[in-house]
Amino acid sequence: MKQTSFGEEALRLGSQDSDNFISYAQSSVLNALPFDPYAAIVGPRPIGWMGTRSKEGVANLSPYSFFNALNHNPPLLGFASIGYKDTIRNIEETGEFTWNLVSRDIASQMNQSSVSAPPNVDEFDMVGLTKASSRLIGAPRVAESPVSLECRLSQVVRLKDSRGEDLDTWFVYGEVVYVHIRKDLLDEGVYNTVRARPVFRGGGLSDYFEIIEACRFAMRKPEDYKHDK
Ligand SMILES: Cc1cc2nc3c(=O)[nH]c(=O)nc-3n(C[C@H](O)[C@H](O)[C@H](O)COP(=O)(O)O)c2cc1C
Repeated sequence: MKQTSFGEEALRLGSQDSDNFISYAQSSVLNALPFDPYAAIVGPRPIGWMGTRSKEGVANLSPYSFFNALNHNPPLLGFASIGYKDTIRNIEETGEFTWNLVSRDIASQMNQSSVSAPPNVDEFDMVGLTKASSRLIGAPRVAESPVSLECRLSQVVRLKDSRGEDLDTWFVYGEVVYVHIRKDLLDEGVYNTVRARPVFRGGGLSDYFEIIEACRFAMRKPEDYKHDK
């Protein structure tokens, strides 16, 4: 029997609306392609590197890339815990967490901090990072990170699929209440995104991205854009 490539197989299984697209039902993605490209397509994603403390006082640090900024005023951010993990348990118990920017020089420690350590292990110590005190909350921040946001829990929502079935995924919304920015990232008070060298998660097992000045472009808002203030 003739071996077909994944591309040909996808065309056979999926709709052929156009010669230019591979189209498939998401539930059959692995019949169409060798890997699910979803996380590579909706990406690269910023990383929520969350510092928390258990109610027993043990510090925890873990990365979450199903994460983003969600509202401006007040600033809300959120991330999805796929499975009820230590981070979300700590946040529900204490109502607090820090977000810490993953810069290129501490990307490896971020990766190490994703190891599934027992709840009594201090993951800052485990990966060789320093805990800095927060100002308004008890959760520690990463001293080596150039930007940290102190957050208070707003909501935890258990996610459902499109049929209304509960998922084992928990979405945390937090409000940013205090901010720490290393001074060298400010040019006369304006934050320099590139200089912080933030790391973003791509798809696949190992893809990450950083940004460089050459990638920047500007686009002004349309004339009739309404600010909702
Ligand atoms: C870059 C990166 C992104 C991750 N994103 C997520 C995520 O969005 N949701 C999730 O549940 N786990 C994610 N993980 C895995 C968690 O970091 C991992 O399960 C960790 O052990 C959770 O720690 P905790 O139990 O101390 O909270 C990610 C790991 C890495 C390296």
